Amino acid sequence: MIECSEKLKNLPPYIFARIKKLKDEVRLCGTDVIDLDMGNPDKPTPSHIVERLCDTVRNHPDTHRYPQAKGMPKLRKVISEWYKERFNVDLDPDKQVLVLVGSKEGICHLAMAYLNPGDIALVPDPTYPVHFNGVYLAGGEVYSMPLLEKNNYIPKIGAIPDEVSKKAKILFICYPHNPTTAVVEDTNFFSEVVEFAKKYNLIVVHDFAYSEIVFDGYDAPSFLQTPGAIDVGVEFHSFSKTYNMAGWRIGFVVGNSSIISNLEKFKSFVDYGVSTAIQLCGVSALTGPQDCVDEIRQVYQKRRNIMVEGMAKLGWEIKKPKATMYLWAPLPQKYRHMSSMQFCEFLLRETGIAISPGSGFGKYGEGYLRIALVTHNNRFHDALLRFKKILQ
Ligand SMILES: Cc1ncc(COP(=O)(O)O)c(C=O)c1O
Repeated sequence: MIECSEKLKNLPPYIFARIKKLKDEVRLCGTDVIDLDMGNPDKPTPSHIVERLCDTVRNHPDTHRYPQAKGMPKLRKVISEWYKERFNVDLDPDKQVLVLVGSKEGICHLAMAYLNPGDIALVPDPTYPVHFNGVYLAGGEVYSMPLLEKNNYIPKIGAIPDEVSKKAKILFICYPHNPTTAVVEDTNFFSEVVEFAKKYNLIVVHDFAYSEIVFDGYDAPSFLQTPGAIDVGVEFHSFSKTYNMAGWRIGFVVGNSSIISNLEKFKSFVDYGVSTAIQLCGVSALTGPQDCVDEIRQVYQKRRNIMVEGMAKLGWEIKKPKATMYLWAPLPQKYRHMSSMQFCEFLLRETGIAISPGSGFGKYGEGYLRIALVTHNNRFHDALLRFKKILQ
């Protein structure tokens, strides 16, 4: 058998794949699994977006041809208008907006477009895996910035050794953050990041996939609202969570025109962009009624409350997140002798509940668990009863 490349071999096993294998195993034994591991929205895409797709595919056969890879002008214009209205940030739709086959694709390809073998990327730990896996695939080196609870999961960029910062080419940040659910309250940290990026001449990638999944009146600031941010950085967005469109594969990146142009160039050798029909659905999503986004927020907020309050009654204290569709929970006291992966395996076998081990997001995620709020409300009550079994 011919071996795969060293790069591929050296990638850590994707945590969701490991959990999925286990889930299949316990399902085969007849267990009813409650899926709370992957951040995969369970609710349908809003109906006006679905209708737009059906109508477009049926009645506009010209959309069956190859799409405009960088995104059709109409969608890029709508994205720039949405940004202006939502964040008061001005963007040139021709040079500062690029449509993606989901933000994960864009983040990975950006690392590949910029990193030479041995180049350093500054990556939070724990974090959404593509932030480090993209760097590995590019042949780059990851310098981990620990995200610690005592620092509200904000990295201490001042603590990065000078020689590392000098060699670094990309700095990744993500607020609201997956998996810790951390948020920034204002743009002070972002200002520090801009200053740092200018000093060391590096690119800032802000993953803003959860910009709209916010609760209790919290409003997530855009990195691009920070003075000088557009000189150094880009911001990634997703339709997956905001409009329950995870399976449609559409996202976008905005910001610095030179970074956007290099990513566009890289992508032009890899893909043909997002289907025109789906791009038009992106237009409908951003310009159509936004009460669907409110409903999505309310769904997660309700589930968050059921779970955090229910767990507290079981003696398991978890902070109520202000954003994202996750809970970031320390291992229950009783099970702290286990690793997070061992606990997830134990939980799945004992109760049929699938969640993600913190270690899958980086070594500083050890000791924590990520619970995704992605099943029907009634199932959370069922999950609480199952948790009770192992906690008491
Ligand atoms: C922080 C973060 N960024 C990006 C993504 C990927 O989003 P998309 O579906 O747009 O590729 C996810 C998905 O869970 C995520 O959590």
